[in-house]
Amino acid sequence: MPLTKTSSVFLIFLFGFYSQTAKSQFCGCSPILCCSEHGFCGYSDDYCGSPCRSGPCRTSRDPIDKIVTQQFFDGIIDQAPNGCAGKRFYTRESFLKAANATFDFTDTVTRLEIAAMFAHFTHETEHFCYIEEVNGSSRDYCDESNRQYPCVPGKGYYGRGPIQLAWNFMYGACDVDLKLDLLGQPELVGSNSTVSFLTGLWFWMNNVKPVLTEGFGATIKAINVMECDGGNSGAVSARTGYYKDYCKQLGVDPGANITC
Ligand SMILES: *[C@@H]1O[C@H](CO)[C@@H](O)[C@H](O)[C@H]1NC(C)=O
Ligand SMILES: *[C@@H]1O[C@H](CO)[C@@H](O)[C@H](O)[C@H]1NC(C)=O
Ligand SMILES: *[C@@H]1O[C@H](CO)[C@@H](O)[C@H](O)[C@H]1NC(C)=O
Repeated sequence: MPLTKTSSVFLIFLFGFYSQTAKSQFCGCSPILCCSEHGFCGYSDDYCGSPCRSGPCRTSRDPIDKIVTQQFFDGIIDQAPNGCAGKRFYTRESFLKAANATFDFTDTVTRLEIAAMFAHFTHETEHFCYIEEVNGSSRDYCDESNRQYPCVPGKGYYGRGPIQLAWNFMYGACDVDLKLDLLGQPELVGSNSTVSFLTGLWFWMNNVKPVLTEGFGATIKAINVMECDGGNSGAVSARTGYYKDYCKQLGVDPGANITC
């Protein structure tokens, strides 16, 4: 059930953009090409055979439920204190459901990508403790100059979900791709955990996955550019620490450029 035809178009646009701008040794290949072990784009077996890093690799790929095991998921959420709202909300099952419904995700996902994604989920939600940003409703996340996705009066577009989707223009763009009324009902992201993970995966596919081949540091920048510009080195090292831990758990090498 590919929910997100428009996002696939957007993604191809992004990949096209990256293929022109990214340095080839970091890959960022066009979507029809594979990224080889050493980071070059091509489509022969030298690139697409094992150990191909991304793209239409011809290696056997672990199914996602073999990567995100119950043990892996619980190893994170069990660290959240018992009083956390997220503990009764986020589940491995809802993640897998959302993953399955996200166009092109489960066909391309790697262990390294899961390590990176869950490192950010862990940091954003404090081990799946938080569903919503603390005191989010007291902050204004309405960009009134955005006419494409105007704020609905009385609705708050503060951080919600595993990647803490925020701002009317993000809820609006996600709404269009997922075909869910998130501009009118942003609270859905905090009340339905499949929707919550769908928004995290939507953000990931559009903004983060395209830079994954540049290293984990680039994914931090894609999620929170201010942290990388010296704004919050504690947050950067927390994210990096989770990433290294999850890479170890999943048996993959974290690669180069893991910080920013
Ligand atoms: C995944 O999606 C397919 C349809 O695209 C469906 O047939 C299958 O049951 C789904 N699996 C899960 C675990 O949701
Ligand atoms: C949230 O608001 C409460 C009450 O106004 C305040 O005591 C608390 O420090 C705030 N927390 C954060 C993280 O802003
Ligand atoms: C949560 O959202 C999903 C995806 O839109 C939907 O299929 C499911 O029925 C919803 N669950 C509930 C309890 O509303």
